[in-house]
Amino acid sequence: MKKVLVIHGPNLQMLGRRKPSIYGRVGLAVINEQLEREARRLKLRLTVHQFNDEGKIVEAIGSAPGRFDGILINPAAYTHTSVAIRDALEGAALPAVEVHLSNIHAREEFRHNSLVAPVVAGQIAGFGAHSYTLGLQALASLLK
Ligand code: DQA
Repeated sequence: MKKVLVIHGPNLQMLGRRKPSIYGRVGLAVINEQLEREARRLKLRLTVHQFNDEGKIVEAIGSAPGRFDGILINPAAYTHTSVAIRDALEGAALPAVEVHLSNIHAREEFRHNSLVAPVVAGQIAGFGAHSYTLGLQALASLLK
């Protein structure tokens, strides 16, 4: 069974309460349940983390090779700022998919650029909580 590291970035622990007009009313626990259900269907084993700390994300990605086959990540605000997370993903060199609940390209200009986009297989943005299951499906097809 292929193993997938799922990383939720900063402030995503507030999902459900945080700006529901943009991020929806589905909380992180429900998103994780949906992911687990989809993982069972796709025959993947998930390890799920939410980190507010950039360094913890860098460490989790850096220790992923040899332990995981792929990475599903919503880097949240670090998407737009973190050279360290980008370098970690590039260095780990595992198949990775970037997901966002909101369509970052339709929002403020500072959200249009993703520093991680060039080092992941692809990006899924704008489908709310469903972005995660779509992202997991995309990763599963890469891992086949
Ligand atoms: C986000 C989009 C980011 O711009 C924002 O900082 C987030 C969430 C999303 O899932 O839509 O925290 O990654």
